[in-house]
Amino acid sequence: MGYNAPSMARKTLITARDLERRPALPLPADALLTPLARDLLRKRGLWPPPVRAGGRGCGAPRLVVANWKSHKTIPEALAFARGLREELASRRPRAGAVVCPPATALANLRGPLRGVAELGAQDVSAHDEGAHTGELAARHLVDAGARYVLVGHSERRAAGEDDARCRAKVRAALRGGLTPILCVGETAGERDAGRTEHVVAGQLEAVFAGLDLARATRVVLAYEPRWAIGTGRVPQGEDVAAVLAHARAVLARAFPPDAVERVPVLYGGSVNERNAARLLALPGCSGALVGGASLDPARFAQILASA
Ligand code: PGA
Repeated sequence: MGYNAPSMARKTLITARDLERRPALPLPADALLTPLARDLLRKRGLWPPPVRAGGRGCGAPRLVVANWKSHKTIPEALAFARGLREELASRRPRAGAVVCPPATALANLRGPLRGVAELGAQDVSAHDEGAHTGELAARHLVDAGARYVLVGHSERRAAGEDDARCRAKVRAALRGGLTPILCVGETAGERDAGRTEHVVAGQLEAVFAGLDLARATRVVLAYEPRWAIGTGRVPQGEDVAAVLAHARAVLARAFPPDAVERVPVLYGGSVNERNAARLLALPGCSGALVGGASLDPARFAQILASA
């Protein structure tokens, strides 16, 4: 990947053929398994592995992020802020909340959400400033109160944003003092072709190559299978856990594993108040990125309470 930290130990990759040859092959806790190897272990009743002690997010900060997309005017956003404050008055969630409204509402939400949620933007310019009509640079978003920004959301990738653009935006966000939440994930076709891990690795490598450790560990990851967004379809828990582990394993090819353990990796795609507790308890899951169910303060508060 061309990282600045070349001395990282490689993860052990275990294939189905390895398991067939040596049925009692020891599985290191951080082993990387191919999908066929996982299927084989599943048949043998050995997959998913037991949750490690302290496995909820492996020490990474826990975050639940609301992505409002193109919803809510300023008065509607303010009503949400009042509602969320009321909902959270009687409970203290363990996860931090981040609300990503349309950029027009950022500055208005700063006061009303203080102490309740941080603010995030949904996109950022790859440029710091200049002749880029219509683009909002990191400094504008920070100015309006944002601390986070989504990068590479599937709806932006569908609108033509490629890995190179995501890479430039992650760098612009970091330069400008924002925490990027980098979204990665496969399409239904890629999943059906068994290419999920390959696709996710490629998206991560494109962005992280050349980042130094200090910047790399400021990025939050969100695994969002594109076919699960807004569809009500959620992958099997074990498949989510496997991709979250894979994402960390990809980063651990270049960065110290203990630093990688502290990178939050969220799950996103049709998270709601009914499935949140199960998804948020998956090994390695640090939180959730929530679209539709984040528009209602009571539902969002319930998801936060599950984290
Ligand atoms: P959803 O959206 O929760 O409505 O599926 C998730 C997202 O777009 O980040």
